[in-house]
Amino acid sequence: MSPRIGQAQLRVDGRAKVTGQALYPADAPQQNPAWAFLITSEIARGRILSFDLSEARAIPGVIDILTHETVGTEAKRPRMQAGGDTTTSMENAEVWHDGQIIGIILAETYEIARDAAHRVSVAYAETPPAATFDQPGVVEEWREPGEHEDYEVGDVDAAFASADVVIDALYETPTQHHNPIELFSTTAAWSGDQLTVWEPSQFVYGLRGNLAHQLGIAPERIRVISQFVGGAFGSKGGATARTAWIAVAARRIGRPVKLVATRDQGYTIATYRAETRHRLTLAADGRGRLLGLRHEGAEVTSRPSVYNVSGTETTARLYACPNIRTRVKVVHADRNTPGFMRAPPDTPYMFPLESAMDELAERLRMDPVELRRLNDTATDPTDGAPYTSRHLMRCFDEASAHFGWNERPLEPGAMSRGDWRIGWGCASAAYPSNIAAAAARVRLRPNGTADVELAGHELGTGAYTVAAIAAAARLGIEIDHVTVRMGDSTLPPTALAAGSSHTATITHAIAKACDALVARIAAAAVASGDSPCAGQDPAQLALADGALGVPGGPSEPLAAAVARVSHGAVEVYAEHAPPGLPPDALDTLYAGQLPILRGQQRKTDRAYAFGAHMVEVMVHRRTAEIRVARMVSAFASGTIVNPLTAHSQYVGGMIWGLGAALLEKTEIDLRHARYVNDNISEYLVAVNADVAQVEAILVPEEDDRVNDIGIKGLGELGIVGMNAAIANAVWHATGRRVRRLPIRIEDLL
Ligand code: MOS
Repeated sequence: MSPRIGQAQLRVDGRAKVTGQALYPADAPQQNPAWAFLITSEIARGRILSFDLSEARAIPGVIDILTHETVGTEAKRPRMQAGGDTTTSMENAEVWHDGQIIGIILAETYEIARDAAHRVSVAYAETPPAATFDQPGVVEEWREPGEHEDYEVGDVDAAFASADVVIDALYETPTQHHNPIELFSTTAAWSGDQLTVWEPSQFVYGLRGNLAHQLGIAPERIRVISQFVGGAFGSKGGATARTAWIAVAARRIGRPVKLVATRDQGYTIATYRAETRHRLTLAADGRGRLLGLRHEGAEVTSRPSVYNVSGTETTARLYACPNIRTRVKVVHADRNTPGFMRAPPDTPYMFPLESAMDELAERLRMDPVELRRLNDTATDPTDGAPYTSRHLMRCFDEASAHFGWNERPLEPGAMSRGDWRIGWGCASAAYPSNIAAAAARVRLRPNGTADVELAGHELGTGAYTVAAIAAAARLGIEIDHVTVRMGDSTLPPTALAAGSSHTATITHAIAKACDALVARIAAAAVASGDSPCAGQDPAQLALADGALGVPGGPSEPLAAAVARVSHGAVEVYAEHAPPGLPPDALDTLYAGQLPILRGQQRKTDRAYAFGAHMVEVMVHRRTAEIRVARMVSAFASGTIVNPLTAHSQYVGGMIWGLGAALLEKTEIDLRHARYVNDNISEYLVAVNADVAQVEAILVPEEDDRVNDIGIKGLGELGIVGMNAAIANAVWHATGRRVRRLPIRIEDLL
């Protein structure tokens, strides 16, 4: 039987992964590779005066040492995902941040390269760095219209002056690093003037385009391979400095070069989630109707970059409100350039909104779910555009029924079990539904096997399985008759796997290719003299369960229908640009840029997925230890292609939300602008022992306006708002409002 969209399906690549047959980029065998080890800056701001390389060079097995003095002119800095500028690394003597790549040792073994790197001494001219908010030397810059979308609706000041209740508070979220298990690696090999790069990537065409720009060569001369990624969460989405330097190194020594950066180097050579601050003001009438919302955000970035996530795009439009003002500023510090991290804008920006909604409910002595119901909206309050579908309150009702929310006392501190105070908290989840342009090639043989080829990305999300389901369902064949090839820039281009866009993006491209393929064999069948389908309307013909036919009417075996067109294989290459993208979307894609239709920026409607979180926390009376006893969340995100992997994504997001609320923070040494806990033993993430009970409910939702197949996307959704739900539950247990994450014991003493 062929699978249906929405039927639970085990991962088609599961066996390869658990048996070690799946090759991650650093695993790709190389002939006679040299090993690279990075030399990184020990200061955060200043200039390199000189290197003493004599001791390193003297080690047997050291092949070469690259610094700005030897190769600085051979590569340009990468273009950042947001298009703006970023820091240099080895282009010159300048140091922008601690841990910047300033040199590369090439050696016969990894151990020799590492040993040599530790024997390099560098003389610097150091300027005292500014590490983060409030430090002398940081430069603040409000984002201007055009660079970023802000909202000014009605008159917020008048609303604040006339409201019955005003909540006005400051919130903070910390620096966070993705810490995927797979380290940041790059392997480069030249064959003549053709370069092949193996690097874990969320966008192989983007990496190819960027690398071509950096090296000043044609993109066609570069192949990027990334068949499996061992976790990314945003950290492998953009191009970073290391890739071009490893390519330069391989060209220079005429051998493949392999770099696997260390865990601590990953904190500074890749991106991260910058710390944010917020002032959030809500005004409401005595019944709880919102009258005004003001959200001012601030985010840290590097000196030259204006990278920011600007989550006010969601907070401005989540609830009905007649008066809205948002602003975002960036704060330039001596830091590496940040980037996106799971639910890039909404994880930090929904924390203040969903905390403030709870504070408003507290002041009004209302149930926080009922406050949200009162302010639910079918249209975007910033411009009146309708949501394509919105089942936020249905999610709350489903979660509430499973959780038993009706039993919740309004007052904080009213529930306990032994020495533990119990609190229940809730929050909304929302994430825009994004879809990008993509191409796909599908090949079907008379024996009922098919190939699907596209440069998509498997980050652990289940993308191979989604691609196989999409093809098998349309071609009416069994899923194990489909071979999916992805993660290679010689395949048809697919956009960045991020922002919950990838399933919608690849499914539509594959469906388009399959439909064109079916149309070809249907046209041949209806025109032939020997088919039972001869003379039928070709538009009525479909492939189902191994046969071509009219549903309930004449049909013939797939083998006959396909063989009529080709004894080898029928192959279709299709390009899909979702309506609403500019006409040059496909050119943009082939060039390695990102043609994406974002749910919050669509012209005539708004496309978002929604969810509701409910959590129970326990806070110990004596030690103030915080445990999360239960998490129940319900999500509506349109068509679900594979409920099994969707469920995994939701649960993973929810658990990460727990970590974001209670554990995760990159600590910064303010004197040196240096990450201190740059390892996975001191950078705390939630582990099994932190998680007691997790329930993710998939609320059925059909949306025929968001896109043809109704897919809203869900990879990011599960984490959004969970931090606030837990903070709200901590308040409910203790009466203590904590507006700075992560919440720690000392906040409750
Ligand atoms: Mo996801 S943070 O958009 O890679």
